[in-house]
Amino acid sequence: MGPQGCRVASFAVGRFYVTTPIYYVNDAPHIGHAYTTVTADALARWHRMLGEDVWFLTGTDEHGLKVAQAADANGVTPREWADTVVQRYRDVWDLLDIAYDDFIRTTEPRHYAAVAKLLEACRAAGDIELGTYRGWYSVSDEEYITADEVEEYRSRGRNVIEMEEPNYFFRLSRFGDRLLEWYERHPEAITPETRRNEVLGFIRQGLQDFSISRTSLTWGVPLPWDPDHVTYVWFDALTNYITAVGYADDDDRFRTWWPAARHLIGKDIIRFHCVYWPAMLLSAGLEPPADWHVHGWLLVGGEKMSKTRLNQIAPADLVADFGVDGYRYHFLRDPSFGPDSDFSYEGMVVRYNTDLANNLGNLLARVATVVGKSCGGIGPAPSPDAPLAAVVTEAYATAAEAWAAVQPSVALEATWRIVRETNAHLEAHEPWKMAPGPELDRVMGDALEALRVVAVLAAPAIPRSAQAVWERIGMSGAVAAQRLPDAAVWGGYPGGCTVTKGESLFPRVRA
Ligand code: ME8
Ligand code: MG
Repeated sequence: MGPQGCRVASFAVGRFYVTTPIYYVNDAPHIGHAYTTVTADALARWHRMLGEDVWFLTGTDEHGLKVAQAADANGVTPREWADTVVQRYRDVWDLLDIAYDDFIRTTEPRHYAAVAKLLEACRAAGDIELGTYRGWYSVSDEEYITADEVEEYRSRGRNVIEMEEPNYFFRLSRFGDRLLEWYERHPEAITPETRRNEVLGFIRQGLQDFSISRTSLTWGVPLPWDPDHVTYVWFDALTNYITAVGYADDDDRFRTWWPAARHLIGKDIIRFHCVYWPAMLLSAGLEPPADWHVHGWLLVGGEKMSKTRLNQIAPADLVADFGVDGYRYHFLRDPSFGPDSDFSYEGMVVRYNTDLANNLGNLLARVATVVGKSCGGIGPAPSPDAPLAAVVTEAYATAAEAWAAVQPSVALEATWRIVRETNAHLEAHEPWKMAPGPELDRVMGDALEALRVVAVLAAPAIPRSAQAVWERIGMSGAVAAQRLPDAAVWGGYPGGCTVTKGESLFPRVRA
């Protein structure tokens, strides 16, 4: 019987279709892959709490030379290899409480059907033609490169090969003006703005047709009209975003979700997502996605993570020390979504101890202790005119705006302002020195109400701990089932609830 019981539920106000890149199955997931996925998960949870219809898609990109070679090196077929690595992704997402609605694999029949349909549509529009590819290919990046780029790629340890074979090409060169015009009409489609400028600059330089098929490889999707060719990697991979919402098999569903998609991507794949992909869609008579949110690198010791540098960090190693929510909180709160950011274990320890162990953990423990001792273990109701009410109102406004702009670090900073102000409220009143009575009840009722709102606003980031806070202050049901903005309005804590002390939520971590 939470406060929601006597409120009118909000109506669904919109749709939120969020995607992560589909990750290559050549390698085990590291904190970089998890970064995008945890961000998408937190956003999906926030939008569910807003009462929106949410569809959260992630998955794996399983075709191409890189995967075929990884399979070869391990003495198994590409499919066997993909099955093994996919399981590692699923396991890490389970470990991190990633609540995706769909997990797509590019090797599934539904995806083959969508790729075939999109290829046919682009071909019917005259945008696919046969040619010969002569030149260079970076297997490591699954990317055609120019002769000028070969040396630089090789110096970075990329596997570059020379090749010549008949390929089908997508006639990207025809799309420059249409793309510029589309971006002109959708000035907010790419964030941050520096990335938008990079994309526009790239388009203005003049676009080259790109190869979409190979004959020297079988690990891909056969072209419907010429099955000696397979398409793989980018044409194949990008299509996943429409496969998953029914492009080939469910028109109603497709119209429901497309083009409402919000793509979260790292800056490495911006050209494919913001140039190739909208051109492919326009060719097929479809609308480009709603927007792209581009983030920078997580660096380790100032460098990009890579197999060769042996500096890849597995999420499980950090979860062992910080717990799932400690992990999620760090990557949502610490890097600003957009620029590169340096990961450091020491920094993670400091932030965990400060924000979670000290600020939130201590607040909860203090409140439970005083309520246990001086209020008979029953939480009093808040006062309507508490100074903390204004703090909550302001924090909610900031957090809501920040989640909408894909800025989780800003949203959590605002949420933790409530935590800090509530600790200050306790220090100012020193309820542990007060005698039982209405004055003490008011101080504690206000602190409990602040904790209730914190549990609601923090739930997308730290779902388990938010639920624990919710229960310890005596609220029932799932905090994730609370509806925003109502649940963030001051006064929802009913009072009369049993408050429990319990174990420390965030035990301190030593550096
Ligand atoms: O590019 N910091 O897959 P991929 C932050 N299959 N994010 C990072 C990161 C880092 N150091 N390293 C990886 C592919 N990422 C294609 C995508 S989509 C239609 C096809 C994240 O396994 C980031 O989101 O190489 C980046 O864009 C993605 O992983 C690349 O994953
Ligand atoms: Mg990559």
